[in-house]
Amino acid sequence: MTSLHVTRTLPEDATDAALRADVRRGLTSTPKTLPPKWFYDARGSELFERITELPEYYPTRAEREILLARAGEIAAATGARTLVELGSGSSEKTRHLIDALTALRVYVPVDVSESALTQAARALIEERPGLAVHALIADFTADLTLPSTPGPRLLAFLGGTIGNLLPAERAAFLASVRRLLSPGDTLLLGTDLVKDERTLVHAYDDAAGVTAEFDKNVLAVVNRELGADFDPAAFDHLAVWDARHEWIEMRLRARTAQTVKVPALDLAVDFAAGEELRTEVSAKFRKSGVMAEVAAAGLELTHWWTDTAGRFALSLSTVR
Ligand code: SAH
Ligand code: AVI
Repeated sequence: MTSLHVTRTLPEDATDAALRADVRRGLTSTPKTLPPKWFYDARGSELFERITELPEYYPTRAEREILLARAGEIAAATGARTLVELGSGSSEKTRHLIDALTALRVYVPVDVSESALTQAARALIEERPGLAVHALIADFTADLTLPSTPGPRLLAFLGGTIGNLLPAERAAFLASVRRLLSPGDTLLLGTDLVKDERTLVHAYDDAAGVTAEFDKNVLAVVNRELGADFDPAAFDHLAVWDARHEWIEMRLRARTAQTVKVPALDLAVDFAAGEELRTEVSAKFRKSGVMAEVAAAGLELTHWWTDTAGRFALSLSTVR
């Protein structure tokens, strides 16, 4: 049996309204910000895949190492018949998990990036006949409705993407994840760990400039979707370690004083020379913090695995 369903829970006009609201709020705030989910048009998703292959960007390799070592244990602990993956992107690492989950019947990848999602889903049904794939084009920070599929459900959120949410957003997100789970279901969470500043800054400011291109892609999205006239060459990419919050910030710094017009919002945005626009936070975690955050959402951490170098963690939590 081969089956692929693609469901869009993000009507295009709702996406457009969300982008407009986020850009207006972000560019009229002090300091200026833009939410990271707008990086991921087709080009942004391609650039992210290139980032995962960079020598400086260790999280993907570290998480793959853990998945390869622990997939059997995860399968035994969860007995999952449905795997739901939030922010699944290319589903590249997930294949190791899918292969180990012997009871698996349905895979539900969820992503805002339609191009990444449909490409990954099509490849998977070719590679794994017998697996039903129900792809959801959806925003995981909005209220998600999952298709009704056989339990137990394993909900995976890999790559450290939870770190791209601010603390209050993370709490709301984990509470919404808890509401999607029933007793016997589990959450598999990937979290990048706190480490030395040099390793972290290089991971987010690579020598080949791929991360800089990814960072500036959000300007291209705003230009295309809202008719703005951002000149990406007028901004420099930077990665800054915030030791107090234990997160990396990606920022775009205006090289000169300039005014950017956003016609769809009837907005003109002044940048001072050197002014910085925050485009992403990428929080780094410690075990105690992950335990506390999942517990606050009504989940209990049962397993904690790291790669041999201790750079990244995968944890499994159950419903309390
Ligand atoms: N899980 C993959 C991809 C991580 S990149 C990995 O570990 O390599 C982050 C992914 O999350 C992208 O595919 C992006 O499109 C998606 N994403 C980001 N914000 C999202 C949101 N609010 N809702 C749904 N998907 C989102
Ligand atoms: C998707 N997310 C976990 C990546 C990260 O590391 O925070 C996004 C990214 N930003 C720059 N490089 C990669």
